[in-house]
Amino acid sequence: MVQPSALPTEQHLAPAAVFDWLDEAAALRAGAGLTRTLRSRPAEDPVLDLASNDYLGLVHHPAVTRAAADAALRWGGGATGSRLVTGTTALHTELEAELAEFCGAEAALVFSSGYAANLAALTALTDPDTLIVSDAYNHASLIDGCRLSRAAVHRAPHDDPDAVREVLAARTHRRALVVSDTVFSVDGNAARLPELSAAARAHGAALLVDDAHGLGVLGAGGRGALAAAGLAGQPDTVATVTLSKSLGSQGGAVLGPRRVIDHLVETARTFIFDTGLAPAAVGAALGALRLLRAEPHRADRAREVARTLSARLTAAGLRASAPDAAVVSVRAPGPEAAVAWAADCRSAGLAVGCFRPPSVPDGVSRLRLTARGDLTERQIAEAVRIVTATAPVGA
Ligand SMILES: Cc1ncc(COP(=O)(O)O)c(C=O)c1O
Repeated sequence: MVQPSALPTEQHLAPAAVFDWLDEAAALRAGAGLTRTLRSRPAEDPVLDLASNDYLGLVHHPAVTRAAADAALRWGGGATGSRLVTGTTALHTELEAELAEFCGAEAALVFSSGYAANLAALTALTDPDTLIVSDAYNHASLIDGCRLSRAAVHRAPHDDPDAVREVLAARTHRRALVVSDTVFSVDGNAARLPELSAAARAHGAALLVDDAHGLGVLGAGGRGALAAAGLAGQPDTVATVTLSKSLGSQGGAVLGPRRVIDHLVETARTFIFDTGLAPAAVGAALGALRLLRAEPHRADRAREVARTLSARLTAAGLRASAPDAAVVSVRAPGPEAAVAWAADCRSAGLAVGCFRPPSVPDGVSRLRLTARGDLTERQIAEAVRIVTATAPVGA
């Protein structure tokens, strides 16, 4: 994060000057090409969308939107209270049961976001006598969960199960928790879960994986990365997911052994002190889950689109990542070039994501393309044409 060189030390700043330092911070970010802007998206956006996380193209599917509308009509616009008071409807309970069954976990607990689910898992499953071993490229919500926990945190080198093993072997803490994304959001590469699980097991540690980008994409019919690795339902393994990507809804969940879920209900602050997920979001997620169960080919198709995009962009001379799931990234020469490239893509009719510091752990700016499973061959060809035609020098 870019910080102003010095914060004001004056004791008696005029009220109008109290936030002057924010202007200095904004100027520094602008100087480094790191300004972020909000864009309001119209309902009928003519632009081809490869920027969202709607991996299966379900956000507008009638089975999903109808389920959301039905849930809102039946249960109301909001959950009315926290889950332990009035915020658990029969629909929440249904979603938890079906999600757990789908992913092969003993139990599931729904949260208002994947972010809240990650904070819950990391804070409730650790204590000051726990060592968390966290992959250096983990998502910000896992990092924040580590910070909020009172555990000791070791940032392990990215994708290095041997390093995890070494740290666990040398620990002096009573408990340990190995934490990793299953699919890393920037490059779309997958963690080596069998190796991580074996490392954790060899040293009596638990494994927590964030399957935000794996659910709906990896494993048979989209059952997620743990199912793909043969680790679903293991007694020492917990997964978090978001309902906001493949499932085209909003919200998150923790999946794992029943006693882990029971413990979260009693102790996780982002569960206890947060209003339950809105019924419409619960309904949409249930609709998507049932659709995915009925049409399992959707997961395979998303991965196939990713491989096609990556192969064609690479053939065109760009540095595209080799995708393990439905995310393809393309390296840009720098943050300003990445922003300009994404803007040029948009002007040409294609929305792509743009990742740059501080959102990229390795400092490399990139475009990020979502390989939506519902893209047609024509749309794939058009996306490749636009990304290639607008590529900056040095890309
Ligand atoms: C890896 C990962 N974990 C967690 C989250 C947070 O999920 P949510 O958006 O549901 O809060 C995201 C992104 O949104 C993510 O990419």
